[in-house]
Amino acid sequence: MASSNLQKIQGDFKNKDIVSLSQLDDKSVLKLFEKVSLVRELGEKGLPSDLLAGKIVVLLFYEPSSRTRSSFDAATKQLGGQTIVVENPQQFSSVSKGETFEDTIRVFEAYCDAIVLRHPELGSAERAAKTAKFVPIINAGDGAGEHPTQALLDLYTIWDRKKNLSNLKGVMAGDILNGRTVHSLLEGLSFFPGNEVFLLAPEELKLSKSDFEKVKARVKLHEISSIDQIPKDCDFWYWTRVQKERFKSEELYKRVNNRYIVTKEILNKYAGKVTILMHPLPRVGEILEEVDSDPRAVYLSSQIRSGMYVRMALLAMILGKL
Ligand code: CP
Repeated sequence: MASSNLQKIQGDFKNKDIVSLSQLDDKSVLKLFEKVSLVRELGEKGLPSDLLAGKIVVLLFYEPSSRTRSSFDAATKQLGGQTIVVENPQQFSSVSKGETFEDTIRVFEAYCDAIVLRHPELGSAERAAKTAKFVPIINAGDGAGEHPTQALLDLYTIWDRKKNLSNLKGVMAGDILNGRTVHSLLEGLSFFPGNEVFLLAPEELKLSKSDFEKVKARVKLHEISSIDQIPKDCDFWYWTRVQKERFKSEELYKRVNNRYIVTKEILNKYAGKVTILMHPLPRVGEILEEVDSDPRAVYLSSQIRSGMYVRMALLAMILGKL
């Protein structure tokens, strides 16, 4: 969470890397959301756009993805740009012949205007940003580190419903230790005053001490271990899956997986009438399908689509077109 020497956005996204949410601030987030409204209108009215005509975005994904890769792909194409999708470069690129990470970045930046990178190592996006000389790097998830564009779409989802990002009360549940979306969202909530978050996790998956210390002065944090400790008047619930790929063994994973499952009964008992239920997805059993039709459940109804609009606006701003 929150790398140190990254360039601040300060309302100007043009040609900037997006490695950590700590590069942004309240004004930058709200400026992005203004532009999201513009591209969302295009999308909702089905209007074609050539905002990114002539631009090529490389989607370099060392780890699997459905939403992030496809939404960046769709976002680029919705705005008239093109993509080069490089999935599993360990197998299907010259990485398999021993090409280094740095050389891989140097190669792809020669073909494009921006690189969206997902990689299993914490800090890999920052390494890529240091290596790339000509194009911005957008972090699409670096190990258990950050996932800043997910946090931007999560903040947008809250803002879209609540029209506000201050003085909110929320729950984040599941894998608080390894969940990079949690780390980035906590950082984002810290830009706005008065936010309070209940972190619901088993002992083994609590936020690391260093991350807790970094955030606690800016977001009021409470660590809880059971669903009945959730206050009734929360603005949002943010559920996450236990990140199986970060565990050393299946046994360790199974020991902590799915301690907290949202059912209709749980939602009705512990959430408020206007609480929204979010999840970055994929879910693997921690929210039952019976919950999907509840009007408070936004993970399928709006959160996914918002991700494309946020990424459309972000790409256009980074490439100097909005
Ligand atoms: N939320 C998210 O990052 O999903 P994917 O892993 O499918 O991209």
